[in-house]
Amino acid sequence: MKIKINRPFDLHVHLRDGKMLERMVKHTSAHFGHALVMPNTTKPILTAEDAQEYKREICRIAALENLPHFTPLMTIKLVASTTPEIVRQASKAGVIAGKLYPEGVTTNSADGVSNFESLYPVFEAMQECDMVLCLHGEVPGVFVLDREAAFLKTLIDISRAFPNLRIVLEHVTTEEAVETVRLLPYNVSATITVHHLFTTLDDVIGGMLRPHLFCKPVAKTEGDRKALIGAAIGDSMRFFLGTDSAPHLVGKKECSSGCAGVFTAPVAMACLAEIFEQYGALERLQGFTSTFGRVFYRLPPGPGTLELVKEPWVVPAEYDGVVPFRAGETLPWKVL
Ligand code: NCD
Ligand code: ZN
Repeated sequence: MKIKINRPFDLHVHLRDGKMLERMVKHTSAHFGHALVMPNTTKPILTAEDAQEYKREICRIAALENLPHFTPLMTIKLVASTTPEIVRQASKAGVIAGKLYPEGVTTNSADGVSNFESLYPVFEAMQECDMVLCLHGEVPGVFVLDREAAFLKTLIDISRAFPNLRIVLEHVTTEEAVETVRLLPYNVSATITVHHLFTTLDDVIGGMLRPHLFCKPVAKTEGDRKALIGAAIGDSMRFFLGTDSAPHLVGKKECSSGCAGVFTAPVAMACLAEIFEQYGALERLQGFTSTFGRVFYRLPPGPGTLELVKEPWVVPAEYDGVVPFRAGETLPWKVL
């Protein structure tokens, strides 16, 4: 059995910088035609110039890997010092989104935001420039399982204050977040990762500790997972793929203070085919991976298609020093 879909978009990925970037570009560009690249690199992407330089570097690596058709979609990180002028210049330079991390919420977010209202002039400029606001929707300091729910009021406040600002609640993990997004106007949508469709907190810490499943936001309950599956395979265009593939070297995961992030890039499409098939929804895979996010971001289609075949393969134990999601497991679907 084979399926062919329009080339997918990954609307949330961490490609990192330095040596890691050189290793990671191919894992995303092999399957995805476009990817929204997160700005939480060690030296953050804060301005038009940063984003342009980062984009050039990604494209240079993709060309070396013989994957020149890959288009990185650029973001800037919104921090306390971001100004409306920075937003306008970034937009002119082709940056399509600004990413807001609450202070200290996840990897490389010590420079994140603690006072959202102080950024309202920045949101105003984003609304004017038609730049998308991407939100890491968790409140740091709150009990870890309640952090996403605690953020929803902020999402509602921002979406009411800026009715024409397109907002993405990133990597939703709870039924409550899914329901909240459904009730908000059409300028608000959400990304769903691959790993959150497969795992609950039980998989992370319920038996042996599995550090390679540890990410922010942490996976929640079985009820939450089912709500995410419902949203992904459903017909609402508000929910689309953002893998949040977040590579960390094995030593940074298997240690006493392990980094948050699950590396899914090489297995994301195969895993999605598996779960969409399980739920009798293979015909909806293309919407979730290739259409809905693209339409929300107002991007052109393509390039070309991606074919998957039902043919078992074993996920390698490691890719370039990073342990992937489902390492060592046999997956039923394979990207051709
Ligand atoms: C991401 C990373 O490692 O950059 N980690 C994660 O757990 N998802 C950052 C993020 O998106 O939170
Ligand atoms: Zn992320």
